[in-house]
Amino acid sequence: MTIQLKGHLDTSIVAEVKKDIDAQLSNVDATEHIVIDCSELDYISSSGLRILIGIKKSYPNMVITEVSTDVYNVFEMTGFTRILDIRKALRKIDLSTCKLLGEGGNGAVYRINDEEIVKVSKREQSDDKLIHESEQVREAFLMGIPTVISFDTIDCGNGHKGIVMEALDSQSLGAYISEDPQRMDDIIPKYIELFRQSNAIEVNSPLFHDIKEWLRWHLTLPQRIINDEEAAVLNDLLNEVPDSNHFIHFDGHVGNVLMHGEQDDRNVMLIDFGDSGTGHPILEIAGWAFIMLEPEHGRNNVISQNITGITHEMRRKFCRKMLAEMFHITDAKELDTVVYQAELIGYLKSAYIAQRHAPYIKDEKFKNFLARVVHDAITLAPEIKVAIHSIIARLQNV
Ligand SMILES: Nc1ncnc2c1ncn2[C@@H]1O[C@H](COP(=O)(O)OP(=O)(O)OP(=O)(O)O)[C@@H](O)[C@H]1O
Ligand SMILES: [Mg+2]
Repeated sequence: MTIQLKGHLDTSIVAEVKKDIDAQLSNVDATEHIVIDCSELDYISSSGLRILIGIKKSYPNMVITEVSTDVYNVFEMTGFTRILDIRKALRKIDLSTCKLLGEGGNGAVYRINDEEIVKVSKREQSDDKLIHESEQVREAFLMGIPTVISFDTIDCGNGHKGIVMEALDSQSLGAYISEDPQRMDDIIPKYIELFRQSNAIEVNSPLFHDIKEWLRWHLTLPQRIINDEEAAVLNDLLNEVPDSNHFIHFDGHVGNVLMHGEQDDRNVMLIDFGDSGTGHPILEIAGWAFIMLEPEHGRNNVISQNITGITHEMRRKFCRKMLAEMFHITDAKELDTVVYQAELIGYLKSAYIAQRHAPYIKDEKFKNFLARVVHDAITLAPEIKVAIHSIIARLQNV
């Protein structure tokens, strides 16, 4: 049952409004959900507020929706937001007037104006996940992780929502280095520092799930592409990763790192927290390696190129330089080994999330690629275990 409140609700009309509402509710059961739609309400006085308290007494399942900022301020000032379920009206936007900035697997990002961007979901009914992401971005920012400021949720029409964030005026790290690969040398130390700083933060917020548990969950999905025995191998592999509650972005490839600041003071920031959670810092390596160090048979995979903004060769070159810098390696042979170990660590993401995605992928080539990734992860499990321990030891020494 929806009750509309309109215009200027003050003492002069309150008796009339109350009579009207009583009439509407005369045959309504006390367990019914009552929605008080305030989309056309401009003002509410204390006598109007008392009507709402009266309805709430008789109908505990009452929500007040579409509240304008002015009216919401009154609810907040009077403490009503603490005792009633009150929801603000969302700003509305027409996406067809906004420039598309980028598209990933799940989302699309548009520019609203100089200050703001909006991220919308490309899939049906995943607004909840998107809103969760905006809460994660806000929490991450407050925890001290270099990222954008997260604003409100917005109404994009057709029942779809978007999340509004601060617009950075620069490009992604992938686009930045593809313009001039020489730039890698200056930016790699900043990229390493971005993760060192973020992964050092211990997180106790329920907004961030335990990544190991999340990966294990993929092995139980009904659509998974492995049998019980194979699932057991992948499950066992995760036991090698120590439990920990450090912040892990878990998708830190160069397409999800944005450049920020002036030419001679360029900095890097993390965006796209859809996969973020908590865990041991080795998982952060899995989070970028699965796509940055894709196995050789994925070298013609245009999807990864689109997502990261750089070619397979350039991704490898970037990782090689980065791992050398991160672990202070000068010997070429030793570096070969570490690059390969990081590639193996990448299976800690790809082989698991493939269980969720592979059955729905239409592109045959990409589908086969994922099936092979899963198969290889299972075959290489003993080697992956060795790589996990070796890289963990290196992480402890830096
Ligand atoms: N705050 C921002 N300021 C400027 N540009 C942005 C901002 N956020 C995103 N973009 C642009 O949009 C692109 C995609 O953003 P993002 O990585 O958040 O979404 P996605 O990859 O489409 O999502 P998902 O991986 O969840 O499917 C970025 O690579 C960048 O070019
Ligand atoms: Mg992205």
